Amino acid sequence: MKSLLISTLLLATPTWLLAQFGPRTPEQDSLMARQQRKTQADYRSMLAQLMITETRPGPSGNPKAPNAANADEAKATTYTSLPDPLTLKNGQKVKSAKDWWQKRRPEIVEDFDREIYGRVPANVPGVRWEVVSTKDTVDGAYPIKLKQLVGHVDNATYPAIKVDIELMLATPAKAKSGVPVMMSYGFRFPAGFRMPQPPSSTTAPPPLSWQQQLLEKGWGYAVIYPTSYQADNGAGLTEGIIGLVNKGKPRKPDDWGALRAWAWGASRALDYFETDKDVDAKQVGIEGLSRYGKATAVTMAYEPRFAIGFIGSSGEGGVKLHRRTYGEQVENVASSAEYHWMAGNFIKYAGPLKPTDMPVDAHELVALCAPRPVFISSGSPDVEGRWVDAKGMFLGGAYASPVYELLGKKGMGTMDYPPQETALVSGDIAFRQHSGGHTTGPNWPTFLQYADRYIRVKAK
Ligand code: GCU
Repeated sequence: MKSLLISTLLLATPTWLLAQFGPRTPEQDSLMARQQRKTQADYRSMLAQLMITETRPGPSGNPKAPNAANADEAKATTYTSLPDPLTLKNGQKVKSAKDWWQKRRPEIVEDFDREIYGRVPANVPGVRWEVVSTKDTVDGAYPIKLKQLVGHVDNATYPAIKVDIELMLATPAKAKSGVPVMMSYGFRFPAGFRMPQPPSSTTAPPPLSWQQQLLEKGWGYAVIYPTSYQADNGAGLTEGIIGLVNKGKPRKPDDWGALRAWAWGASRALDYFETDKDVDAKQVGIEGLSRYGKATAVTMAYEPRFAIGFIGSSGEGGVKLHRRTYGEQVENVASSAEYHWMAGNFIKYAGPLKPTDMPVDAHELVALCAPRPVFISSGSPDVEGRWVDAKGMFLGGAYASPVYELLGKKGMGTMDYPPQETALVSGDIAFRQHSGGHTTGPNWPTFLQYADRYIRVKAK
């Protein structure tokens, strides 16, 4: 059990965080080696199913490497066109909201299901939520009611795999009725791990954490732990919720990947919120960073009950255009290190096909969120790095604008990429690059100002 925990922690941990942990023990090393062998075997069997013998390698994330990812804007636009979210496959233009909902949107969903993120199976078992503990406590100066929850997935059809969704919920202690809640996809950190904090100043008061900013407004917050129900590696694809539904067998090429599995869990958390009178379930938003930024975009696209999305540094596989030759590429996500996020079919676009062969692109993922508000967040290219491709994410939002406009909303409002710290928040698709690193942290105040236009604490 302990070793399982360690391996889950290590493999679920992105490299940018792993760097903070120091040396590994020999036990941890051998566990990782075993997991990697299992991942490689799963990857190879997926390539065999796809009848692919070779894939193109992605560029390096190290800007000094000889094969460094492109960071030159002049070389980024190697594509000549993007799929049009408002043209049907038969060539007809989509002119009405009805045609969007009944004809075009289902076409786009089908393409994303089959080629990019995979399909959620029809027979996913139900979840029984258990409130493990409820406690009155404080978060800083804010009295809260804190609940620890576990969603037990019914595994009667395959008892060898047990799946539990871990969730926590904090709501203002004095709230008289259900409050709006932002749910965050939470990374699991080893005991004692602390995120590096900005240097403290003796004059300025410590800034409010994102949780406290929410409590200050009378909202609550929740954290869902995606790796509790689907591991963040290829080795785990025959386990977790994906493995349970497949009865421990490997995926088919259009089966769901981890991003859709994580989003499925977020939907189940929302089912729970609908039963908890402390939550206003019609006003629940979702937030996540990096791989969980991708999961946030997928969640918003596929789950209409989420009211608002805060999509942090989602990069390739998120809202960054797949066709852009800048920063991380399709080939990277299609590699054995990251393919588990996606449908197996996604690997085809790293050989023999090309990203330009994709029937959809990331702007259409944003379009699937319409008409609900989405805030696309990024750090500073100089601090966060260019791997996430901030401009590619901006364009993913900007090119979704026509769909929002068709539905009577406002898109991004411009096609001009703004300077750092210039918030584009006049429309329903928002964008801001903060001046910090790989975090949504500095964008929370701007996100919350924007969210105020949509989400309200009900009068008591
Ligand atoms: C890597 C990966 C990204 C991902 C990030 C993370 O950098 O290439 O696609 O978003 O890890 O999740 O931390």
